[in-house]
Amino acid sequence: MPNFSQTVQHIRSSEIRDLMKLATRSDIISFAGGMPNNDLFPVAEIEELFLKMDPEKKKTAFQYGPTPGYPPLLEALKEYLRTKGLPVDTHKLMITTGSMQAINILGMEFINPGDLVMTETPSFIGGIAVFKTFQARIKSIPLEADGIDLEALETVLEKETPKILYVIPNFHNPAGIIYSKEKRLKLLELLKDKNIILLEDDAYNELYFNNEAKAMTTPIMALNKTDVEVVYTGSFSKILGPGFRLGWMLASPEIYEKAQIIKQGIDSCSPNFTQVLAHEFMQKGYLEPYLHKIRQEYHERRDLMQAALKKYMPQEVQWQVPQGGFYFWLKLPEGMDAKEIVKDSIIKGAVFVTGKTFDPQAENLNYMRLAYSNMDKNQIDEGVKIIAESVKKYMRVYS
Ligand SMILES: Cc1ncc(COP(=O)(O)O)c(C=O)c1O
Repeated sequence: MPNFSQTVQHIRSSEIRDLMKLATRSDIISFAGGMPNNDLFPVAEIEELFLKMDPEKKKTAFQYGPTPGYPPLLEALKEYLRTKGLPVDTHKLMITTGSMQAINILGMEFINPGDLVMTETPSFIGGIAVFKTFQARIKSIPLEADGIDLEALETVLEKETPKILYVIPNFHNPAGIIYSKEKRLKLLELLKDKNIILLEDDAYNELYFNNEAKAMTTPIMALNKTDVEVVYTGSFSKILGPGFRLGWMLASPEIYEKAQIIKQGIDSCSPNFTQVLAHEFMQKGYLEPYLHKIRQEYHERRDLMQAALKKYMPQEVQWQVPQGGFYFWLKLPEGMDAKEIVKDSIIKGAVFVTGKTFDPQAENLNYMRLAYSNMDKNQIDEGVKIIAESVKKYMRVYS
C-alpha cells in the first residue's frame, strides 16, 4: 500500500458517492446535483464578450495574474459587495478558485489536528470535507426554521471554544432555510469576546424569489458591530457558472495576509482567463439582467417541485418551502432511512441525496435533499412521483 500521509489516511469515499455511481444512467431524473441548470448559462453573452474583447486584454487573460486576483475584477467585486453593506474598506478581498478554496485556505490557516470546528447540522458536504481533511473535531448544532439553534450552541460554548463556527445563512445547502435578522444579531452577541471565527458562506445570496426573502439576505458580516471576527465567502458558481471556478474571501487584513501566502503555494492565482471574463460580464452590466432571469427560472422550478410534492408525498413527510436557492429538504418520519428509499427510486428512475451525507455526525437518516435547480422543468413532476412512490412503499413495508 502507498505510504499515505496522516492527513489523507482517514479519508474515505462516502457511501452516497458510491451509491451515486449507480445513478449515472442517462434516463435517470436526478435531483441529486446541487448545480445550476446547463441551459441557463450565459453562453451567448460570454462568447460575445470574448470576441469583442480588446486584444491586449485577451493576452492578459492567458497570462498568470496576481495572487489576490485580477485587479479590475477585485475593484468591480468591491463595488458589488459594498452594495450589500460589506466592510470592503476595512477588510481585504481575495479572489479564490471557487469558494471551496477559500474554506480550504481558512482551514489550513487555523485548524490543527484535534481542534474543534462547529457546523450546523445539516451542513454543506464540501465544508465538512475540508474540516475533516484538516482533522478537526467537528461538533454540529441543529438548524431551526430561522437559523442555528442558539440555545444548543450556547450550551456547547459554555464548555468549549471552537476555532471556527461555519454557517450558511442564506438559502442553506441542504436545508433551504434563511436566517432571520434577529437570529443573525443574536448569533453575533453570543460569539462576542470569545475569539471564535465566524465563517459565513454566502454562495446563494442572490438567488431569492421574493422581496421579503431579499430583505433578509443582508450578510451577518454586514450587520456585525461587535468584535466578532467574521470571514465572508462568496462565489460566481451559482450566478455565472461553476466552471469559472471563481469565488472570493473577505477577511480582516491579518487573516488575509497569511491567506494570500497560502494561496500562492496552492495555485499562484485563480484562473486569469475566467477572471477577465467575469470582470467584463460585470462591467458591461450583464450580471443584473442575468440574475433577474435565473431567479425567475429557479422560482418556477421551486413552484413545480412544491406542487409535485404536495400532490404525491404522503402527509407524514414534512418540509418548508424554500424562499430562494436550489433545495427542498424533506423530513421523513423518525426511524425511516432515506438510503432505502433512494435505492428503490434509483431502480425506478429518480435520484436524490440522503440527509446523512450532510450530517457531520452521519446520524440524520430520515432526511432527503431534492435539488430543483438542475433538472428540466418538464421532468420535475415525474421525478417527484417516482420518489414519493418509493417513500410510500418503504412506509408500507416498515410500518
Ligand atoms: C454552501 C456552499 N458553499 C460553497 C459551495 C462551493 O462553491 P464553489 O463552486 O464556489 O467552490 C457550494 C456549492 O455547491 C455550496 O453549496
